[in-house]
Amino acid sequence: MATIALARGWPAPELLPGDEIADCARAALERDGGTILAYGPPGGYGPLREWLAARHEVDPGRVFITNGSLQGLVFLAQVLAPGRRVLVERPTYDRPLKILRELGADIVPLDCDDDGLDPDALERALAAGDPPAFAYLLPTFQNPSGRTLTLERRRRVAELAREHDLLVLEDDPYGLVRFDGEALPLIFELSEGTTAYSSSFSKTVAPGLRVGWFVLPEETARTLEAAATATYITPVQLGQATIHEFISRGLFEPNVERVSSLLRTRRDAMIDALDRELPSARHSNPEGGYFVWAELEDGVDAADVQKRAEQAGVTFVKGADFGGPPESLRLAYSFVSPDEVAEGIARLASAVPVAA
Ligand SMILES: Cc1ncc(COP(=O)(O)O)c(C=O)c1O
Repeated sequence: MATIALARGWPAPELLPGDEIADCARAALERDGGTILAYGPPGGYGPLREWLAARHEVDPGRVFITNGSLQGLVFLAQVLAPGRRVLVERPTYDRPLKILRELGADIVPLDCDDDGLDPDALERALAAGDPPAFAYLLPTFQNPSGRTLTLERRRRVAELAREHDLLVLEDDPYGLVRFDGEALPLIFELSEGTTAYSSSFSKTVAPGLRVGWFVLPEETARTLEAAATATYITPVQLGQATIHEFISRGLFEPNVERVSSLLRTRRDAMIDALDRELPSARHSNPEGGYFVWAELEDGVDAADVQKRAEQAGVTFVKGADFGGPPESLRLAYSFVSPDEVAEGIARLASAVPVAA
């Protein structure tokens, strides 16, 4: 029996546009190989930087392209976080938590509910101590919860950022992967570009190309470019030029639609299976992204369930790894087929103790 990986927040192979990427890489090299194969600017491949700048309506000098967005977060954290308070959502993406911990940041978790971050918790944290280095927020289809911050709360967060001169980093790799509903304005847009933004082509094109980007205050962009130069001299321009070619050929938007439609079916399969197999669990109902967050009945420990689930042939990540409560779990529907999603949830249900 093959294990079903609901732990893996990766795109399934059929989500990756391999043939188009192969053509685009060749075309980019033929057209601009002299630039792409040489060392280049630390902030990334010029034409992609300009495209991103136009998309965000900022000067290209504020755009910083990195080898995946996580690398940029490492630079930002290295420069700003050591010994300082960093505000995060609870739960939040586990890798930044590890990075911040290792750098000796004072991590301040802020409470969230079904509508995302509670802005009152943000306000209280801002009133309570030294000014934070930054706030790391995931307002759209959050990893791990799949939740999305409401418009009203986005406005409050943008206002609080302005009032307290707080650097908000809005990490948004999933925002374009929307299946239902209307896109909400970014905090970056509501703050009129005074906050910071990061995203990635990992979920909209392919993670193996390792292309993420940041829109930062000008001075922070220069500081991070210096960190990039000291780390890898120049980011991988071939991936960036391949993405630029992909965009120039008009392949980007159709690919996002294709990916979203494949993921919608998987999300539906997961929600149906949860309602059928685990009716006692509360779960999020994401309008996009990769993840569903589930909370088992009080007193059920997801760590115990995880061991039994692995024996039953399904993996997930326990919510505690993201700072969530013991009964919570993150279920990714991105990596396996809709049938496997349904079978995975049935196996999970067999590992959950029946209430007395
Ligand atoms: C919320 C979030 N931010 C950043 C990343 C890292 O993305 P990248 O592949 O661009 O480094 C991920 C990857 O899963 C993610 O879930």
